Amino acid sequence: MTTAYQKLEDINKRIHNFGHLGAILSWDEAVNMPPGSGEARAESISELYAYISEVKQNPEIKELIEKAKSEDLDELQKANLDLMDEGWKKSNVLSTDFVRRKSMTNMKCEQAWRRLRSENNWNEFKSLMEEVVTLIREEAEMRSADTGLGLYDSLLDLYEPGLRSSEVDEIFNQLIAELPSLRDEITEFQQSRPFTKPEGPFATEDQKALGLEIINAMGFDFNRGRLDVSHHPFCGGVPEDVRMTTRYSKEDFTESLMGIVHETGHARYEQSLPRTWISQPLGQSRGMAVHEGQSLFFEMQMGRSKEFIQFALPLMKKHLYKGGNEEAWSEENMTRLYQHVTPGYIRVDADEVTYPFHVILRYEIERDILDRKIEVKDLPEVWDAKMQEYLGLSTKDNYANGVMQDVHWPSGAMGYFPTYTLGAIVASQLFSALETARPEVRSEITKGEFGNINKWLEENVWSHGSRYSVQELMQKVTGKKLNADTFIKHLKNRYLS
Ligand code: CO
Repeated sequence: MTTAYQKLEDINKRIHNFGHLGAILSWDEAVNMPPGSGEARAESISELYAYISEVKQNPEIKELIEKAKSEDLDELQKANLDLMDEGWKKSNVLSTDFVRRKSMTNMKCEQAWRRLRSENNWNEFKSLMEEVVTLIREEAEMRSADTGLGLYDSLLDLYEPGLRSSEVDEIFNQLIAELPSLRDEITEFQQSRPFTKPEGPFATEDQKALGLEIINAMGFDFNRGRLDVSHHPFCGGVPEDVRMTTRYSKEDFTESLMGIVHETGHARYEQSLPRTWISQPLGQSRGMAVHEGQSLFFEMQMGRSKEFIQFALPLMKKHLYKGGNEEAWSEENMTRLYQHVTPGYIRVDADEVTYPFHVILRYEIERDILDRKIEVKDLPEVWDAKMQEYLGLSTKDNYANGVMQDVHWPSGAMGYFPTYTLGAIVASQLFSALETARPEVRSEITKGEFGNINKWLEENVWSHGSRYSVQELMQKVTGKKLNADTFIKHLKNRYLS
């Protein structure tokens, strides 16, 4: 006889398979799709997500969950059942019609944003964004009424389950208190350490060959994943078929290369989730703070270390160096280039010292939007004021490099941004724990040996899937909850010595 629990596993496998289709369609939309096909694609993807939401809302699932609770389950099955229960509750807040409407509205806004951003066209963007915000507010209110969480927490919980904004506040307040003076000290310190950029042009094929050689060394599994080009880099697909993207600039190869290293961290996590649980909630990645923790472990903790530059420089030269300007291609110069700290307009280009301010600014604005303290029309002004306050830069009339720079809001995601900085903190705590456990880690990076590092991450983080909340995971692996101390110590070590 099939037990209720087994029936639930079958239903979740179906949901996972439909999600697989959605992920590959979304990847294709960003990588291959001709622009004129956008509207039809938005409709077909929205239809698929509405259907998935219908499958997830089947009342039979709730009955099966209740039955399964009294069945004889082992510890992992119990954990999986708990996650199914949580998922069922989250899936039943929004009607299928609302899911379809939201998906259509978000995709319409996001597709228009790609063009409007390049035109610096705030006015046309504003009305599309207003439609998106109306639905975000509606969703937050419905979720909040269902769970009793605050408006912001009800969205944050979708991206990092279990984490609350009171925990975020504690960390962000420490960063606001300590980072400005540290940043000034670093900027002062770096004035005596100038660097030059290697001069291009660098052919795309050569850059790609370099990227592939590096991510191959870092353990990316090409048998279950690929690397392509998109307007905005991301790591998508599913654990069985990971789709990473990057973008290449002919003049500068350094950012694209580090972008690839970043996405490889996301990809290794996905590719190393527990195989036997892959179609179940327990086998999924935990949340975006843990996810970003893996990408920033690869990019910031390893990738921008002087040990990594030592490993990567000969490969950079092999693929891209055409002679001349030896100084720019020295280890010292390349390290300075990759560790340069300077405030800028663009979040995705920010160094790890100024990055948290880009996140804090967005976090504060999102909260005020949800609390209806500000409206979409106020965004450029509020953005400009906060940029001046936190980074000393004005974005007046510069919408493209200000409020319109990120894909998150046009695509309907609020409550997501904090996970980037929490990810930086996760990464610093994990690297510090790894270095304590295996002091030889830095010399391994220098030699391009990533096998033991991957093994440690797999044992301690990746193989657990969704079993532990980010706080439980941090406590278990590093002996401490999420906190800014290790991150700040890392910044001081790297940038002031
Ligand atoms: Co990332």
